Amino acid sequence: MKPEGKELLTVLFSREKIRDMVQDLAGRINTQYRGEQVVAVCVLKGGFLFFSDLVRQLAPPPDIDFVRMACYGNGTSPSETTCLLKDVETGLQGRHVLVVEDIVDTGRTLALLLEEFSSRKPASLKVCTLVDKKERREVDVPVDFPGFHLEKGFVVGYGMDFSERYRCLDAIHELRFETCS
Ligand code: IMP
Repeated sequence: MKPEGKELLTVLFSREKIRDMVQDLAGRINTQYRGEQVVAVCVLKGGFLFFSDLVRQLAPPPDIDFVRMACYGNGTSPSETTCLLKDVETGLQGRHVLVVEDIVDTGRTLALLLEEFSSRKPASLKVCTLVDKKERREVDVPVDFPGFHLEKGFVVGYGMDFSERYRCLDAIHELRFETCS
């Protein structure tokens, strides 16, 4: 996608569809952990709304923490390097860690985060993502709890942005650019 021309937004997943998906994911996660205490880690910024809706449906209530990775800058194409801008404050050794992502695209961001977290010797390390762009994967990463499957396109809303815009939209929209000819 070329970020130029007029921006066009189309609803892809409505508020109701998101609500149902979050409920479904929470059910799958609760079944998997069978009452074990989990540390849920939100990948900022894009995961903030999804995370807040998800953790309120987990039982028992998880410990929560946050990381921030640097990857996309202000555009829509990934840069080569990814790093941890903000680390968790919780010790992960011996804990059941659930990473909560907004979207997994090439898998590069997640691969680096999983590598870092694995080195801290958690009891288990699993991943939940609201949107899974699995066709675009460049690195093989395990996604234990995938939500919506998205074959192509760029999405915004419900926490996800384009140049820091559109995060507060209730629904997930596809963003396209109108090209003038
Ligand atoms: P990856 O390293 O290519 O998997 O990129 C993952 C990160 O890129 C996500 O956590 C998002 O922050 C961002 N990203 C990837 N695709 C989209 C999209 O369609 N909309 C908004 N952000 C995206």
